[in-house]
Amino acid sequence: MTPGDLRWWQRGAIYQIYPRSFMDSTGDGVGDLPGIIERLDYLNDGTEDSLGVEAIWLSPFYPSPMADFGYDISDYTDVDPLFGSLADFDSLVEQAHRRGIKVVVDWVPNHTSDRHPWFLESHSGPGSPRRDWYVWRDPGPEGGPPNNWRSTFAAVGAAWTFDSDSGQYYLNSFSLQQPDLNWDNPEVEEAMHDVLRFWLERGVDGFRLDVIQKIAKDPALQDNQDAPAGEAVIRHDEDWPTIHERLRGIRSVIDEYENRMLVGEVHIYDLARFIEYVNPGDQLHMAHNFVFMQLPWDAAAMRASIDRFQELSGGRAWPAWCLSNHDHSRVVSRYGGGELGEARARVAAMLLYTLRGTPFIYQGEELGLPDAEIPPESVVDVDGRDPERAPIPWEAPSEAGPAAGFSTGRPWLPLVADAERLCVRTQAEDLDSFLSLGRRLAWHRRHDRCLQEGEQRSLDAGEGILGYLRELDGESRLILLNFSTEECRLDCVDLPRKATVELSTNPDRESRAITLSDLELGPNEGLLLSPLAG
Ligand code: GLC
Repeated sequence: MTPGDLRWWQRGAIYQIYPRSFMDSTGDGVGDLPGIIERLDYLNDGTEDSLGVEAIWLSPFYPSPMADFGYDISDYTDVDPLFGSLADFDSLVEQAHRRGIKVVVDWVPNHTSDRHPWFLESHSGPGSPRRDWYVWRDPGPEGGPPNNWRSTFAAVGAAWTFDSDSGQYYLNSFSLQQPDLNWDNPEVEEAMHDVLRFWLERGVDGFRLDVIQKIAKDPALQDNQDAPAGEAVIRHDEDWPTIHERLRGIRSVIDEYENRMLVGEVHIYDLARFIEYVNPGDQLHMAHNFVFMQLPWDAAAMRASIDRFQELSGGRAWPAWCLSNHDHSRVVSRYGGGELGEARARVAAMLLYTLRGTPFIYQGEELGLPDAEIPPESVVDVDGRDPERAPIPWEAPSEAGPAAGFSTGRPWLPLVADAERLCVRTQAEDLDSFLSLGRRLAWHRRHDRCLQEGEQRSLDAGEGILGYLRELDGESRLILLNFSTEECRLDCVDLPRKATVELSTNPDRESRAITLSDLELGPNEGLLLSPLAG
């Protein structure tokens, strides 16, 4: 690879914004697009004092009844007044581009809201010209749902909702306010391609494709079967072989425009199937790897998963590394909570920024936020995801009031308990903070070609240590991550004798030349080193 070969989406971090919880400019307690504009400098102002993000990915801001907080869309080509207007969106794109930040938006092709005009028409009866835009079926032979498919949301149960007017069921793979579109109908595919074009024309640089494996289902709607022990399940409600031609169709729309990117939310836990969404080169550019996200805090397990991806990809698929998003418990809480969780989350941040591939950072991850505690009376999500969606604390509550600079009103969800210490303002002033570490990691990643493009090789560095080298044109970086709570010595043969410490997750470590055989990694410490020749 020669310099300049990398595309924008390979160079640095892509930062996920969950608009409801990022920044509220109106005081209604819900974040909005003008709020995002206000905070763009935090994300990238061109200096080392910002997060230096390459791109933002915006979770949905489209008109929606909010049954699934925006993932139930009633108009694909507008902005919900709660979030602002199309003019605000245009100005967000312009302001972001001015700072060199690309803009990626969420595209939700598997389902609409039950209030979308397409569904209202489809629902009006079997004779409707749009009946077949959704998946309608008669009850099963013994009455009840047509097959055994289940909603992804456990609380919803069966993936079918009965409509007493027509005596038929419609398919809903998520909540019953999110009827599945029928992708076997070419008109649906065409309409959804037009949605892509609408946003491409407005200047967006890419799309995150929501639950993309779901847009290809068995047209015969056969039951899902239990897999025999040790074998992968063949599912009939997703990842059907037609997925690949559909992805090629989507890619060809993107390729009508220059330099655009597709990243898929691909919930497939068999990596060999997963990689087929990216490897051929004519489908997705990247896919979020949930096998990786759901691993326990275990160096050997992480290494095995990283190596397996590399082996399957054969260098073709470019990895997208992410450890959290708005659907999953936050890294700090997932890996132990409290001080231990924070120490591990620092190591996790170093992992994301130094692996070969694109780091995806979910808003608040750079602050080391834990999940918020949500009292029962404040619960709003059907699937238990409120804790990771708590608003960003920008200022110390002692100065800015209980909404911590996120809003002048009452936030739609409670904030994290420790906002005083964890807020952006407090952390920005502290060189040892989580945020300061994140800024340095981002800086290294953006300025170090070795970290961007270098080949990656795992090392046997000793138990509890995840170690790898990144190598490019005779230069290398050594990354050593101690997953254990004990001090560890390096147990590795074929390394140079000396190295310079570029960065440690432990603020007390001095940056200096060290002898690797004498190196003691602190408990939960991550190190980025430059090996020295000789
Ligand atoms: C994706 C989104 C999630 C949403 C679901 C249905 O998994 O990330 O938030 O509930 O799709 O659209």
